[in-house]
Amino acid sequence: MSKLLKEHLGQFPNLSMSILPTPVHKLEFLSRKYNCNIYCKRDDLTGFAFGGNKIRKLDYLLMDALNKKCDSIVTNGSNQSNWCRMTATAGAANMLEVHLVLAGENPDKYTANLLLDELVGANIHHVNTDDDTLLEKVSLEQVEKLKEQGRRPYYMSVGGSNSIGALGYIRAFQEILEYSNESGIEFSKIYMGSGSAGTQAGLVAGQLLSGWGGVITGINVSRSKIEQEEKVKIIVEDTLRLLNVQMDQSIWNKQVVNNDNYLGEGYRKNTEGARQAIELFARKEGIFLDEVYTGKAAAGLIDHLEKGLISSDENVLFIHTGGNVQLFE
Ligand SMILES: Cc1ncc(COP(=O)(O)O)c(C=O)c1O
Repeated sequence: MSKLLKEHLGQFPNLSMSILPTPVHKLEFLSRKYNCNIYCKRDDLTGFAFGGNKIRKLDYLLMDALNKKCDSIVTNGSNQSNWCRMTATAGAANMLEVHLVLAGENPDKYTANLLLDELVGANIHHVNTDDDTLLEKVSLEQVEKLKEQGRRPYYMSVGGSNSIGALGYIRAFQEILEYSNESGIEFSKIYMGSGSAGTQAGLVAGQLLSGWGGVITGINVSRSKIEQEEKVKIIVEDTLRLLNVQMDQSIWNKQVVNNDNYLGEGYRKNTEGARQAIELFARKEGIFLDEVYTGKAAAGLIDHLEKGLISSDENVLFIHTGGNVQLFE
């Protein structure tokens, strides 16, 4: 199964900035506590710029930008966006001028991701809004300004979540299959946080291409179940098109599964479940999570364990997608 994914991915060169494959290991405390087998794929350890899921997407996206002879990048996100930190660093390391359009006020003191954005020399444009449409409009205006200056900008929508970015998570899915082949540990369920949806879309595309029979659950961090499932499906469809694979959506519709029970009041709004999950992972597993993404995803996993939705004969994989720089906000 993993060979087939490798063949699909082989058509697309990438920059290999991520240190791969990321390790997989058992979460000993959780597994003992709930008498089951919970594993963690450590995508917080992708290496580049403090790690996390976004560098897998950037491996493909920046390769595309360089192939198109672009000399600058424009993207956007929140003031403390992990995506923007990764893009700023990866762009700088590839000698591209990076423009970040960030939602929120320009704070007096830069911390965490914002501090790193500045350190790597990104051009930061603050827009005091929480309206994603306005943020995108300002970003596209920035693209036009650069073109007027004779530059060749490459625009990346928030989170790098499009078909090219999703290739990075087909690659992650291939690693999961290879891990299973080598260890004999077959997973029945995969959990991870789902925001701009490219991570989940790449994993689902990997599932569809390989015929893997388990369930991938995206724990929502910003939208309702219906909205998020729609968002994931659009990227899965685009990704299959990019790979030239014909597969009717009615066949795979049900494989896009999202859960909004752990979202709380919305994006970047802390929840008690996430706070408890962060504390448990830090104190019992030696792993740092964040409040925006992985804390909520782990809260979902723990709640499913509490409710007995995972049985003792299953192997379950939690993907740690990074983001723990947030703890230094
Ligand atoms: C740490 C972390 N985890 C998970 C996600 C969600 O990934 P995606 O936006 O591809 O859904 C993000 C996105 O910003 C993230 O920064």
